[in-house]
Amino acid sequence: MNILVTGGTGYIGSHTCIALIDAGYSVVVADNLSNSKRETIENIKYITGQDIPFYEIDVTDKQAVECIFRKHKLNGVIHFAGLKAVGESIKKPSTYYENNIISTLVLAKACLKFGINQFVFSSSATVYGENEVPFVETMDLLPTTNPYGETKSICERILKDIAQANPSFSVSLLRYFNPVGAHESGLIGEIPNGPPNNLMPYITQVAIGKQGKLKIFGNDYPTIDGTGIRDYVHVMDLAEGHVAALTSKREGVQIYNLGTGQGTSVLQLVRAFEESTGIKISYEMVDCRPGDIAACYADVQKARRELGWVAKRDLKTMCRDAWRFERNYDQVLK
Ligand code: WQD
Repeated sequence: MNILVTGGTGYIGSHTCIALIDAGYSVVVADNLSNSKRETIENIKYITGQDIPFYEIDVTDKQAVECIFRKHKLNGVIHFAGLKAVGESIKKPSTYYENNIISTLVLAKACLKFGINQFVFSSSATVYGENEVPFVETMDLLPTTNPYGETKSICERILKDIAQANPSFSVSLLRYFNPVGAHESGLIGEIPNGPPNNLMPYITQVAIGKQGKLKIFGNDYPTIDGTGIRDYVHVMDLAEGHVAALTSKREGVQIYNLGTGQGTSVLQLVRAFEESTGIKISYEMVDCRPGDIAACYADVQKARRELGWVAKRDLKTMCRDAWRFERNYDQVLK
């Protein structure tokens, strides 16, 4: 089985390539390298011992996409390629809408044209908006607070409509909670573009000395210790969730939360990192970040029941692997 992975050199895409190859699939990668590095492909090849056809293209480019579909006999597409910085999306909404929506349309239409029936879309828990936790797949979606989040809701809608009109086209919409950690080899992981926006890479950069103090955004949320609660999930667990969605071969539109089902506060994550690595993280409390919600964690029963997928790696492993990659990247890979 041959799977096209768009955004396959990005954070979640690269780990998913490894999980797919581990499960016996072969992969073709398309990525414009706008927020990732070419060396990642070499590292995936090194880890898996497999050759991987790589195309440096923009998946909004219909001709370039169709060229890949013509050249390779594909059995499915996993679409990760997209812009993902929440703050940037507020400053450049048209770029976000254009890029994330057109790419999804181009790929879905290419699937229909070439008779490819399996499509997996990289969605986000952000589509739930400020719903009550835990978030369940059957909930009505609430508006998100930024264009990035809206692109995810809109693409979900587009894919549902296309699947409804084309009964042989099966779509899995995977709603990720907060992916963290790295492959245990320490060779691939998250490489933020500039100072990190997300918590775990910020913590690892404080630990290595690239950043001063961690700023904790808000300490008076109605949570266990006043700091925000999230559902951190190891990126390799998440990657394996994609394999489970593909192999389940369910028909129609399937929506799955990919998280652990456990809420962790910012302070709890800081403590887990300190315990796992022995490194002290200095921090200060600052105002809330606009658009943040108090708590976000998954109801994970559906993925467990229908895909047989559960997140296996604990918080300590997430911290250990994130830290191993940070150190390795700084000292060896950069
Ligand atoms: C987690 C917690 C912050 C940084 C975002 C997007 C989402 C998805 C993942 C991606 C929150 C707190 C953070 C810091 C802090 N998108 N925090 N200091 O906001 O849950 O999700 O990234 O591609 O769509 O919204 O993740 O890691 O930014 O924040 O205190 O320097 O850490 O307030 O409570 P978030 P995050």
